[in-house]
Amino acid sequence: MGIRTIREMGDDILRKHSKPIKEMTPRIRQLIADMFETMYDDNGVGLAAPQVGILKRLFVIDCGDPETLEPRPYVFINPEILETRGEVTDSEGCLSIPGRFAPVPRPEWVKVRALDKDMKEFTLEAEGLLARCICHENDHLDGILYVDKATGPVEYVKEE
Ligand code: NI
Repeated sequence: MGIRTIREMGDDILRKHSKPIKEMTPRIRQLIADMFETMYDDNGVGLAAPQVGILKRLFVIDCGDPETLEPRPYVFINPEILETRGEVTDSEGCLSIPGRFAPVPRPEWVKVRALDKDMKEFTLEAEGLLARCICHENDHLDGILYVDKATGPVEYVKEE
């Protein structure tokens, strides 16, 4: 399929709860490939399935490697945040709320368990931007948007 349409705030689907994925199918494989393509095309670092209109517990992330800046794609299926530590507030945006940013407090460290693209379970400990992304995308699976958690005004930043 390729690049999919990103649903924007105001679309009811972004407020719904997503359902777990029971098995990998060709359709879900295609969805994952399309989500990466859509995310990279829009210069995002994360994208959740409900953002492309699919209510499944799936998101993709690529914040890059913090040292080499090389791409570092992750697929999370049926994720569960097991543990969090600390709190840090930083500016956050979302592909479903284009051009806008606001300060959002998030854990500075998270431990998450999920299934990968082959439905194999993995556990990941993450900090910094990756931890923030995981929390942001995980919220999308429960219909939560970052503006719900923002502690400051949502500012409009004109795209160049
Ligand atoms: Ni988002």
